Amino acid sequence: VYNLSADSNVYCAVLAGGSGSRMNSPVPKQFLMLGDAPVFVHSVRTLLKDSRIKQLWIGSNGDWYELAQEQIKDYCGNDERIILCEGGIDREGTLLNILNGICKENEITEDDVVLIHDAVRPFVTQRIIDDVIAEMRFCSACNTVIPVNDTIVSSENGKSISGIPVRSELFAGQSPQGFKIKALIDAFNTLDAETRAKLTETTKVCFVQGIPIHIVKGEFYNFKITTPYDLQLANFVLEYIKSLDK
Ligand code: CTP
Repeated sequence: VYNLSADSNVYCAVLAGGSGSRMNSPVPKQFLMLGDAPVFVHSVRTLLKDSRIKQLWIGSNGDWYELAQEQIKDYCGNDERIILCEGGIDREGTLLNILNGICKENEITEDDVVLIHDAVRPFVTQRIIDDVIAEMRFCSACNTVIPVNDTIVSSENGKSISGIPVRSELFAGQSPQGFKIKALIDAFNTLDAETRAKLTETTKVCFVQGIPIHIVKGEFYNFKITTPYDLQLANFVLEYIKSLDK
C-alpha cells in the first residue's frame, strides 16, 4: 500500500445526485437494491475499507436526501467519516457542492487529494483505489480507464462515419478520478461559462487548462449502471464475485 506524503489527506466525493432518467425508474438508480444493499452502498463500503480516507462525502439531490440518509444509516454502519450533502444541477455541480463542503470543514493544503467516484459504479476495487492514490504522488489529476475492445468510429452527422481513431490509443473513462483539491478548484475557477455548461467529465476541467492527467487501469466490471440492462448485469457480476469468495 502506497501513501501520499505523510501530511496529505485523502477525501472522497461520491456523486449520488443524479435522477437516472435512462433507467426509467421512479427511484434514482443509486438507491435501487443490488443484492443485499442499495447500489451506492457497495462502493461506499469498499472506499471506507481504506483507512487513508479521512472523510467520505455523498452528494444527493434534495428530493432524495431523506432516503439517502436512511440508507446510509441502515447499510453503512455508523462510520463517522460519512458526510451527506446536497447535490447540484449536474454531475459537476454536485462535485462543486462537495468540494465547498470539504474546504469549509477542513484546512486544505496543496497536497490534499479528492477521489471522485460515481455512486452508480458499485464494483470499484481496493486495487483501483490503491493505484489512484499511489499515482497522485506524481500528478495533479488522474483518471481510471480501460482499453476499448470495439473499434470506435465517430460520426458528425449521425448518418455516416467521419473518423476512425486508432483503437490502441483509445480508452473508456471510469471512476474513481483523483485530483489535488487546490489544483482542481483553481481549474474550475478559470473555466469560461460555455465550457462549464458543456462539461460531462471532470478531467476535462484540467485537460482544457493543460494540466497533465495520468491514467491507471480500471476493470471491465467497474462499469456505470445506466440502463435496466446494466442493473441486471450488475446482479450477475455480484453473484460471480460472491462465488469467487467461496
Ligand atoms: N450525478 C450527480 N448529480 C447530478 C447528476 C449526476 O451526482 N446532478 C451523478 C450520478 O448520480 C451518477 C454520476 O453522476 O453517479 C454519473 O451520471 P449519470 O450516470 O449520467 O447519472 P444520471 O444523471 O443519474 O443518469 P441519466 O443521465 O440517465 O439521467
